[in-house]
Amino acid sequence: MQEYLTIQEAINKKKGKVKIRGWVYRERGSSKFKFIVLRDSTNIIQCVIKKETIGEEKFAIADKIQVETSMEMTGDIKEDKRAPTGYELQVEDFKVIGESHEYPITKDQSTEFLADNRHLWLRSRKMTAILKIRSTVFGAVHEYFRKKGFYEFHSPILQSVQCEGGSTLFEVPYYGHKGVFLAQTWQLYAEPAIFALEKIYTIAPSFRAEKSKTSRHLSEYWHAEMEEAWATFENMIDRGEELIKHVIKTVLKENKEELKIIGRDAKKLEPTTTKKFPRMTYDEALKLLKEKCNMNIEWGKDLRTIEEDELSKLFDTPIIITRYPKAVKAFYMKEPKDSPKDKPIVNGADFIAPEGYGEIIGGSEREPDLEEIKKRLKEMGEKIEEYEFYLDTRKYGSVPHSGFGMGMERVITWICGLENIKDSIPFPRTITRWKP
Ligand code: 4AD
Ligand code: MG
Repeated sequence: MQEYLTIQEAINKKKGKVKIRGWVYRERGSSKFKFIVLRDSTNIIQCVIKKETIGEEKFAIADKIQVETSMEMTGDIKEDKRAPTGYELQVEDFKVIGESHEYPITKDQSTEFLADNRHLWLRSRKMTAILKIRSTVFGAVHEYFRKKGFYEFHSPILQSVQCEGGSTLFEVPYYGHKGVFLAQTWQLYAEPAIFALEKIYTIAPSFRAEKSKTSRHLSEYWHAEMEEAWATFENMIDRGEELIKHVIKTVLKENKEELKIIGRDAKKLEPTTTKKFPRMTYDEALKLLKEKCNMNIEWGKDLRTIEEDELSKLFDTPIIITRYPKAVKAFYMKEPKDSPKDKPIVNGADFIAPEGYGEIIGGSEREPDLEEIKKRLKEMGEKIEEYEFYLDTRKYGSVPHSGFGMGMERVITWICGLENIKDSIPFPRTITRWKP
């Protein structure tokens, strides 16, 4: 197996004979030389094929090699300051594995063209770096929850209930039955499971029919969710903060190179790893908006993207906003004992990322009262029968519990400093894009 080195291993070796393989990232030639920048998943390296060394006949083959040809090369590696990664391979022999002709992606193509050719664009250095960071983020979330004693639990994607509002539901044809939807969240299936496992988490796709084009909404996104028996509202918020800190720390440790490749200033992420996230109530947020941002928001209105963005600019870590008006939040959120009668609020929390990257976590303490939940479902026009399984959680040994959901692509977009959430996922789905 040691026959081939990865390009990074070859570079680490610094000198001597190596055998590598990969794809042609760039090529240029003259009558005597062919320069090929070869890439694999680890790095790129310049390779030079000389007619003098390789012979007339083989050079003629080299001369025709185009971008994205897959090939293997054998030769001597040595330091060369002018080469893109500081090393050059003097090729002694090469073999073409798979030819490539007129690779469609060239310089300066439109975003639309790159989206149509997403399957090829994945090979770009930018996308490769983002996908590596994405892999780190997923790994770090699993690591955090498992270290904290959570079980990984799986909920159905095809669901007979809604949880986050009917307007973003995707209904699917289901053997001729109506009322089957793609999951918006695992929540209504996670709550029953904490009575068995107590501390559970998942990372799974969630679906939202977002009917407008925005830079932070996907129709299909990956949702890291946790649900915890006995956890208070504060416990849940602490978990969210700890989780985010762990994710950022891990990326800063493991993806320095990738952050550099995509031009993201890692310093912007550092405060998140050390500082405590500011926590404020909705009322305090309104006050800040008025005093610092000159924005007058009427009590009871949900915070919109522009308000969240303005607030986020005042801090260099995520901020946590709590105690939202009951009317703007989901039916399952608990109304605390000290909720004002005239302005009822709920124990719901949103984590807003810095630099205007929007809401990354939404969570709450869950309403324990059976009648209260029934009342709210009825107000929403829901059929109570469909929710019987969920309501049983409040009938048989109900306990205080809390949970949250974190949008994986929102977090990756922020970490990578991307302009649009679409680049944080390999094959994005939005209102206008479902292919390839
Ligand atoms: O705030 P949301 O709607 O909360 C829930 O779904 C809860 N049931 C979660 C829970 O308590 N288990 O969604 C949670 C997070 C948001 O904070 C956001 O980061 C992300 O999911 N999100 C989206 N990400 C990408 N595209 C979309 N269309 C998203 N909608 C929500
Ligand atoms: Mg939310």
